[in-house]
Amino acid sequence: MQTTTAEQVVLKSIWRCPSNIAIVKYWGKYGNQLPCNSSLSLTLSNSFTEIELELLKKTSNEAVELEYFFEGTKNEQFASRVSKYLIDNASYFPFLNEYALRINSKNSFPHSAGIASSASAFGAIALAMYDAFYTLNDKPLDAEFYHTTSHLARLGSGSASRSMFAGYAMWGENTAIKNSSNEFAIPVQEIHANFQQMHDAILIVEDEPKKVSSSVGHSLMNNHPYAQNRFAQANERTAKLVEILKTGDYQEFIQMCESEALTLHAMMMTSNDYYLLMKPGTLLAIEKLMNFRKETNIPVCFTLDAGPNVHVLYPNSVKEKVEQFIHTELKSTYKSVIFDELGTGPTCLSR
Ligand code: PMV
Repeated sequence: MQTTTAEQVVLKSIWRCPSNIAIVKYWGKYGNQLPCNSSLSLTLSNSFTEIELELLKKTSNEAVELEYFFEGTKNEQFASRVSKYLIDNASYFPFLNEYALRINSKNSFPHSAGIASSASAFGAIALAMYDAFYTLNDKPLDAEFYHTTSHLARLGSGSASRSMFAGYAMWGENTAIKNSSNEFAIPVQEIHANFQQMHDAILIVEDEPKKVSSSVGHSLMNNHPYAQNRFAQANERTAKLVEILKTGDYQEFIQMCESEALTLHAMMMTSNDYYLLMKPGTLLAIEKLMNFRKETNIPVCFTLDAGPNVHVLYPNSVKEKVEQFIHTELKSTYKSVIFDELGTGPTCLSR
């Protein structure tokens, strides 16, 4: 939307960007936000960030003039992170010379839920900012737009690169996957019916903020005794997962998904500055879930992000049974639960 009001808002762009959960995990980076291994994730639907970006007349000579509000309150700390990001990538946003920015951001999930919001936040910022560039240049949104926003989102938060696409996305150069790149993510398009309607129930085991930031976590992979084997394993697994998603093999998916979650945490526990993010509730939920699967043969499995919360993944065909199990047997393991599912990617709400 390009207007001039009393307030002198020249342009407004509102975007919703979902979070994603990795099946094959990105853990370890180098250079300017480049991944040490490829990764593959599932784009979520109900866990998202919404960004309202306004362009106003500039009032100073600062390289970036930005006011950043998170859920109605000014957030200076995040504003300076975003300003640095915009200065570093100013060549994509030439309008920064002319306009000041006001950003209002909100998440669909509670701040205390312990869900990493940087993927959806940087995804949404990249989308709104690059959309402003497109609007000022009268360009229609096209595939090239999402390709570039994936690159831009990656520069803010690596995993954000994968949130630009519906369904499944992979990021990171992989010799077995055509067009894969360390610079941006690509959609994984050939998906068997078994994996087309996946659910992710996020069990909020603890709702404290992260003890160790993911930047610190990534850096601990430098000089990690198992780093090289881990990177090779993740690359092999990414290529294998593309095949599993094509053939629809639940058993292979489950095996890989759970092993990836435990391997991610094993890397944390075996780094020189070791740390532990799992909580008693995490282990209890995992154990109960494995027993439930053994008893029922229902294709349900877990994954973990860099935190204690448990993501329970299951196809639509077993939704009722698994959700019944979550509400009863697993109830003692979590504080709250967010029912999410495979999503359709970012949405432009207004431009
Ligand atoms: O995007 P970052 O730097 O917050 O790293 C995220 C890493 C994991 O969430 C643990 C795994 C992943 O691939 O998303």
